[in-house]
Amino acid sequence: MKKNILIIPGDGIGQEVTTWGKKVLEKIGENYGHEFSFDEAIMGHTAIEVTGNPLPDETLAKAKASDAILFGAIGHIKYDNDPSAKVRPEQGLLKIRKELGLYANLRPILLFDELLDASSLKPEILQGTDILFFRELTGDVYFGEKNRNEDNTFASDLMNYHRYEVERIARKAYDAARTRNKRLCSVDKANVLETSRLWREVVQEIAKEYPDVETEHMFIDNAAMQLVKNPKKFDVVLTANLFGDILTDEASQIAGSMGMLASASVGDGTGFFEPIHGSAHDIAGQNKANPLASILSAALMLDISFGLQEEAKAVTNAVAETLKAGWRTGDIANAHTEASKVLGTQEMGEKVLAFIK
Ligand code: IPM
Ligand code: MG
Repeated sequence: MKKNILIIPGDGIGQEVTTWGKKVLEKIGENYGHEFSFDEAIMGHTAIEVTGNPLPDETLAKAKASDAILFGAIGHIKYDNDPSAKVRPEQGLLKIRKELGLYANLRPILLFDELLDASSLKPEILQGTDILFFRELTGDVYFGEKNRNEDNTFASDLMNYHRYEVERIARKAYDAARTRNKRLCSVDKANVLETSRLWREVVQEIAKEYPDVETEHMFIDNAAMQLVKNPKKFDVVLTANLFGDILTDEASQIAGSMGMLASASVGDGTGFFEPIHGSAHDIAGQNKANPLASILSAALMLDISFGLQEEAKAVTNAVAETLKAGWRTGDIANAHTEASKVLGTQEMGEKVLAFIK
């Protein structure tokens, strides 16, 4: 198989972790006889520094022309405490999601048994959890009209959804539920929000096309609580952009660390694969970041964009073997981890590479 992959490292630890996602793809290419070619592009703070634009036209053109994109992370502390900044790194990520029509963000909560004791939750609560989030990615309050009045005493963000936007992601989530445990929980705030009432109405209609899937509707506040009380009760979770953003950071604690969670953004064209974590400037450039989320994002690319299930499995197995052998990065180590087992980004990446069959 021949594929052109675009690497966009982005900001902060994005640079370091993406190196390992890419190396894994190269190794899979060699081992399985695929011709993967790579190109690279800039985005976020890195791109603002060079061009003044968080998503330069050249990056967007390369993205559209590629078969799949591996992205790192976005953001810089400089902007976090400067709410008045007009140009922000995150605008690059939001724009590329919109431009590529990446309306479905899949965030699997992959729980490795070896990491049961890395979570802040009790192992007996976690064991057996397997959740796949479908977060809507190109609508909601993220893309609604934004306003600020002249004397700076009022601001607003419009939360809006079109019926078709709910329909298309709901179908994707139901299709996935069919291949899993056939349970779908749609999360909204229909007791308060009009957008959520439309969301719930549409999901109820789509549910009729999938009588074999058990549907549940849950309010976001309750879902946030249930997720830590009894995560096993969830199979596929379908939710809107903002709720999904918040809920999946919470859910990452089930997998032990944000540094473990990969995601796939798909829709009309090129698929986009990225860790859910941020740029973590506090540890950037120090060889401390966990490369596993980027490596697992590469596995999602192989599976979802290229249909290479066996190759994807080889990657997740290599991650499992690495963890089984006791190797940890700082974020997934705990009080019982021997100091000699705690590795830097590069050493952890090398372990995974060595385990790839
Ligand atoms: C995510 C991130 C982004 C989001 C930010 C960086 C814009 O938090 O992918 O979850 O809110 O979607
Ligand atoms: Mg987020």
